[in-house]
Amino acid sequence: MAPIDPHSFTDSSHPLTTHVALSLYLDFNTSIIHGSALLTLSSAFSGELSLDTRCISIHMVLDPLTLEPLPYRVSTTPDRIRGTEVVVVLSGQSSLLIVYSTSPSASALQWLSPLQTFSKLHPYVYTQCQAIHARSIFPCQDTPAARIRYDVVMNIPNSLSAVMSARHVRRRLAVPEEAKHLEAGSLGSSLWCGEDRVVEEFAMEQPIPPYLFAFAVGELGFREVGPRTRVYTESAAVEVLDAAALEFAGTEDMIKQGEKLFGDYEWERFDLLVLPPSFPYGGMENPRMVFLTPTVIKGDATGAQVVAHELAHSWTGNLITNINNEHFWLNEGFTTYAERRIVEVVQGPDRATLNIGIGWRGLTDEMERFKDNLECTKLWNKQEGVDPDDVYSQVPYEKGFQFVLRIERQIGRTAFDEFLKKYIATFKFKSIDTSIFLEFLKANIPGIEKEINLQLWTEGVGIPEDAYEPVSTIYTKIISLAKEFKEGRMPSEDDVAEWNGQEWELYLENLPKSCEPSQVMALDKRYRLAESKDYEVKVSFLQLAVTSKCREYHGEVKKTLKEVGRMKYLRPLFTALAQAGGTEEKQLAKQVFAEARETYHPIAQGVVESILSKYI
Ligand code: BES
Ligand code: ZN
Repeated sequence: MAPIDPHSFTDSSHPLTTHVALSLYLDFNTSIIHGSALLTLSSAFSGELSLDTRCISIHMVLDPLTLEPLPYRVSTTPDRIRGTEVVVVLSGQSSLLIVYSTSPSASALQWLSPLQTFSKLHPYVYTQCQAIHARSIFPCQDTPAARIRYDVVMNIPNSLSAVMSARHVRRRLAVPEEAKHLEAGSLGSSLWCGEDRVVEEFAMEQPIPPYLFAFAVGELGFREVGPRTRVYTESAAVEVLDAAALEFAGTEDMIKQGEKLFGDYEWERFDLLVLPPSFPYGGMENPRMVFLTPTVIKGDATGAQVVAHELAHSWTGNLITNINNEHFWLNEGFTTYAERRIVEVVQGPDRATLNIGIGWRGLTDEMERFKDNLECTKLWNKQEGVDPDDVYSQVPYEKGFQFVLRIERQIGRTAFDEFLKKYIATFKFKSIDTSIFLEFLKANIPGIEKEINLQLWTEGVGIPEDAYEPVSTIYTKIISLAKEFKEGRMPSEDDVAEWNGQEWELYLENLPKSCEPSQVMALDKRYRLAESKDYEVKVSFLQLAVTSKCREYHGEVKKTLKEVGRMKYLRPLFTALAQAGGTEEKQLAKQVFAEARETYHPIAQGVVESILSKYI
């Protein structure tokens, strides 16, 4: 008996789940899902099978063949990170049926009231399962070591529609027979077939890690932007849909580019769902249906960059998956590399180099953040007792990228491209760890371990000396302008004439963490950064303003924290306020969080809470 993943109760001696069939009744009045989950295991099993759950009430567990109840127990004290272990006693079964309900506080789900939506007319709910939140939607072995296929029958109000990271099979009327287990659980009888209800069916035929399970339900509309791509938004958000369709018009070109570099696109469709502004990430690579924050739609290159990233996960992450979160760099480092290869082709090498520069800056900042927690600066890092949401950082992305680039630079692009294709073809639909990757690397590039210190890169702390700080005219120019700011020089209109959001972002991130308030205000007076429509620029600037104690900006900080829920913006602003040292800042942090909390996704609520509890 040994755990296979520090974030799961799954045991190495247990068979893994291969298929899940879910019936879900979504109750928007109570923010509860009444569900049944039929889990199929890779082989018959006798003994105690451990499952992960979080805030789930189990009503019964049955043998699906005999419909006899199966003994089970629910651990009485939930683990702070892993949630509640459920143990089912099997005697030779290879499947089990669990009837259960979720909780309104399920960590994967954000339930939006009509008032929180664009239309103000209909409710909305969406999921975010990575890293370990799928267990709050259905009991499962919530580890990427398990790869599952799934079928879903979802019962929703007929005024709404559902999308999933799966193939849409059909929309149809509910049938009484299919509700019998749910009604034996906690769902009132006849609700399943209520007049105002409809059923949507989905099927995911490729085996995926549970963290890629995803759905959204709302009043959705879409537009075709390519032969295998639609963009979805709330149907009332016509302007958002128009802007998104324009922004993502180049998606098909990127898919083709991805196929050229990494092999066939295996997921048939590549649709994009633009979520409400509370979506906690920039993008999430849910297969067949990427989830995106609306903040990336701003008419410049960043929208496409985030799509390039999530698209790249179709190969690195979704085809080859990290076996657990200790090897997260295998997902994000490779994907950041792949993203930049796509960007290089569709937006040009200058843009790709600028992105490497922004990433480099982010990486060096993380070294500062983790100077007392060096474990987090390792690619392969121990996460026993660690909440993945608390240690989320640029390290797996940017140090991972640097490692992949280091190999490319050693063997040359042509050889590396061939290696990448072979790596993907060899491990597709498999979950692997760092050692498996390194063995494959050494077997395919003989002698590589003599050229690159592989152990230092994957297990060492900090940034290895043979990492690559990018050089390009624009990058160097921006860095030197940022240095000059310290001596009191501001960039001239000429200097910034060609800058868009990413150039400003790089500039602002290279300024000292805290400056003279008068200088910060002068910069804003000239370039109106606090009012930028681009959140990267606005938030970088506001962060500088807060750490420089420019209290004039507290109103804008508050407004920003109340209109978006993307953690990339919440983290630096709340951290700056909480760390600033002044009581006024700390007070503001507490007050804004109290007011905005309910509008954030539960994952973001947890992250802000842990920032505030650390410093306040
Ligand atoms: N898979 C990640 C998002 C994620 C990571 C969710 C860990 C939960 C836990 C996604 O691919 C990602 O990296 N998104 C980035 C965008 C990107 C362009 C780097 C983001 O959200 O900022
Ligand atoms: Zn990613």
